[in-house]
Amino acid sequence: MSFHIIEQAPARLNRSELAVPGSAPQMFEKASQSDADVIFLDLEDAVAPDDKVQARKNIIKALNELDWGKKTMSVRINGLDTHYMYRDVVDVVEQAGERLDLIMIPKVGTAADVYAVDMMVTQIEDAKGYKKRIGFEHIIETALGMQNVTEIAKASKRNESLHFGVADYAASTRARTTIIGGVNPDYSVLTDRLEDGSRAVHWGDMWHYALARMVVAARANGLRPVDGPFGDFSDPDGYRAAAARAAVLGCEGKWAIHPSQIALANEVMSPSEKEITRAKRILEAMEEAAKAGKGAVSLDGRLIDYASIRQAEVLVAKARQIAGA
Ligand code: GLV
Ligand code: MG
Repeated sequence: MSFHIIEQAPARLNRSELAVPGSAPQMFEKASQSDADVIFLDLEDAVAPDDKVQARKNIIKALNELDWGKKTMSVRINGLDTHYMYRDVVDVVEQAGERLDLIMIPKVGTAADVYAVDMMVTQIEDAKGYKKRIGFEHIIETALGMQNVTEIAKASKRNESLHFGVADYAASTRARTTIIGGVNPDYSVLTDRLEDGSRAVHWGDMWHYALARMVVAARANGLRPVDGPFGDFSDPDGYRAAAARAAVLGCEGKWAIHPSQIALANEVMSPSEKEITRAKRILEAMEEAAKAGKGAVSLDGRLIDYASIRQAEVLVAKARQIAGA
């Protein structure tokens, strides 16, 4: 290990993160009773310009008056390039800061963006005498944000998570797609001719680099990486596959843009019984190995060593966190 110790963000469950438009208060009650680990009430892209002011009022009222249970509550403010953003921060933190756990900053581009919001939130918290400190979640969804993802990840002690905003990222990088997440048949290769003369099409994951890049920046700075939206809410299999490939890369959760996606995210982002059993067997086998003075042994015909202990511990710790939630 490096001599540099990575300080970890507060350990919150973040398997599912439900997006709820601030302009749709009729959805709040159902959201509050859902199984989502985190809810973000949206002031940004799901809210039309004419509804921004009312949405802010709805969110403040709902944070103060609804029983959100033990859920982690976040508000997605408008971008720093808009004139809505300062009032989003001032009004929501001043009037509902006690119940607010996180602020989600969209389209964050540089570390200075984070600094600006941090400065505002710090002043409001001090002025109001809040005891609890509000954390930040950042959506990495522009080419600039991806270029500066490491500096953004380091920019504030409030930082807790990085989210891959695939829809805006596609727009920002001018990717040739009009869907939100998922795959694109044009991102594929043709194999050479097989023996029977046929050729197979191999679809690829066009978001792989971006997601992997963000996961590294998040983990190197003790933050939770979270995969963003999957727009086709009538395709649970597609959602499950997208969530699973994000989990394999190290993401802790995925957004739900529809209530039906919450259970899918919670399921995919929780280690399965099979994974937990294997992880426990690895830990037992390594304990036996240590007693016998060995650093590496085989389990079910595969090599395991001290790195296997660390992998297994991650899984077992996650299972414990879920059980204790
Ligand atoms: C989320 O905000 C996205 O743009 O995907
Ligand atoms: Mg976006």
